[in-house]
Amino acid sequence: MVFYRSVSLLSKLSNRAVQQPSLSNSVRWLQIQTSSDLDLRAQLKELIPEQQERLKKIKSEYGKVQLGNITVDMVLGGMRGMIGLLWEISLLDPDEGIRFRGLSIPECQKVLPAAKPGGEPLLEGLLWLLLTGKVPTTEQVNALSKELRTRAIIPDHVYKAINALPITAHSMTQFTTSVMALQVQSEFAKAYESGIHKSKYWEPTFEDSLSLIAQLPVVAAYIYRRIYKNGEVVAADESLDYGANFAHMLGFDSPAMQELMRLYVTIHTDHEGGNVSAHTGHLVASALSDPYLSFAVALNGVVGPLHGLANQEVLLWIKSVVDECGENITKDQLKDYVWKTLNSGKVVPGFGHGVLRKTDPRYMCQREFALKHLPADPLFQLVSKLYEVVPPILTELGKVKNPWPNVDAHSGVLLNYYGLTEARYYTVLFGVSRSIGICSQLNNSLVLL
Ligand SMILES: CC(C)(COP(=O)(O)OP(=O)(O)OC[C@H]1O[C@@H](n2cnc3c(N)ncnc32)[C@H](O)[C@@H]1OP(=O)(O)O)[C@@H](O)C(=O)NCCC(=O)NCCS
Repeated sequence: MVFYRSVSLLSKLSNRAVQQPSLSNSVRWLQIQTSSDLDLRAQLKELIPEQQERLKKIKSEYGKVQLGNITVDMVLGGMRGMIGLLWEISLLDPDEGIRFRGLSIPECQKVLPAAKPGGEPLLEGLLWLLLTGKVPTTEQVNALSKELRTRAIIPDHVYKAINALPITAHSMTQFTTSVMALQVQSEFAKAYESGIHKSKYWEPTFEDSLSLIAQLPVVAAYIYRRIYKNGEVVAADESLDYGANFAHMLGFDSPAMQELMRLYVTIHTDHEGGNVSAHTGHLVASALSDPYLSFAVALNGVVGPLHGLANQEVLLWIKSVVDECGENITKDQLKDYVWKTLNSGKVVPGFGHGVLRKTDPRYMCQREFALKHLPADPLFQLVSKLYEVVPPILTELGKVKNPWPNVDAHSGVLLNYYGLTEARYYTVLFGVSRSIGICSQLNNSLVLL
């Protein structure tokens, strides 16, 4: 069953500004320069006791407050529309779309540090924001970038585990296997076995989370090069930020592809807690499974075609449209193709959503990227035609609650344009990005124990 709805309960009950930064908060944080201010762990050490106190207060003051009525439809729909989870790092409004710690995607693009003025946000900045609730400075982002680079070391047995699989295994099977192989170095598992006090759980969780986030692009790129580039591995470039270095290790060095990867890994990080991967990671972690184990099961949810695999499905579907009707397909031909898909009992990939009721802002920011960088690309023009053609057809079906495009309707054509054409790999990119949200929420949840 698919679970759809969660809530940032604390932000509903308490003052949002405490946890979620306003733009003016970012200005306050720009003043900070001391060495512990640049250390994310030191920052969390200060913040966590405040958060523990805050939760205690909320429990004692609001513990008995009811949060709504539960209907049979809600239960049959998999907790649909029901407030069922605490999720502080992001909030998904059906009309407005996602907010990360209170900031919309355009606001993140505005306030998070970028590689160049007006560029896409650096992933490290969003990670800092999700973990602390504060907008970081460029210096803090650079320090985190450096720390992630030092942690991006892959034990040899991980490569052996991947290599034991046939090269034809789906990239996500190889990716999940690599995460399970990385798990043997979990600091949380070791600390638990040595009897760590529960008040300290967050420390090895934080260690594992940062290491996992740092290691994932390296193994993800290895898998890509193994499957599609004769195993010719590209070494990391120590001068690059997380997103750009990931593009580089995949084999793409153009500045535009680096910007696209920064955007891609930022917007796929988190989408509140009710979606399959975020919910699964959270659920498994609640049994005190370590971050590697929790993230590995979340990845198995990402690979479902109604969730993350939809980005693969969209590009394959778009290419099947082109194969059958050519790139200059008319709107009438496109309508016929959409009906043919529906009549064969399939969904139109990239459209619809369990929570959203308007066009996904993650779709819109990718559309803006395409309008800026590749307006004449025939596949982008086809995606634009689909934006006009599909929603009225889905509305005509009479049962689809959201006929508008989601994030997956757009990502494939952008990657394809810059040469990353292997659609069956795309879900790995989604998985790398999703580690940021899942690990941030794990750290957030353990504070509450
Ligand atoms: C995302 C998705 C799984 C949400 O499912 P949901 O919450 O059940 O959506 P709805 O409540 O609107 O579904 C009602 C009906 O409309 C159908 N529907 C929803 N989106 C559809 C689409 N894009 N194409 C065809 N039918 C669709 C559902 O399959 C369901 O049909 P059923 O009653 O015969 O089972 C669904 O919209 C979908 O399958 N989209 C395509 C895959 C996709 O893009 N996934 C990525 C999501 S980010």
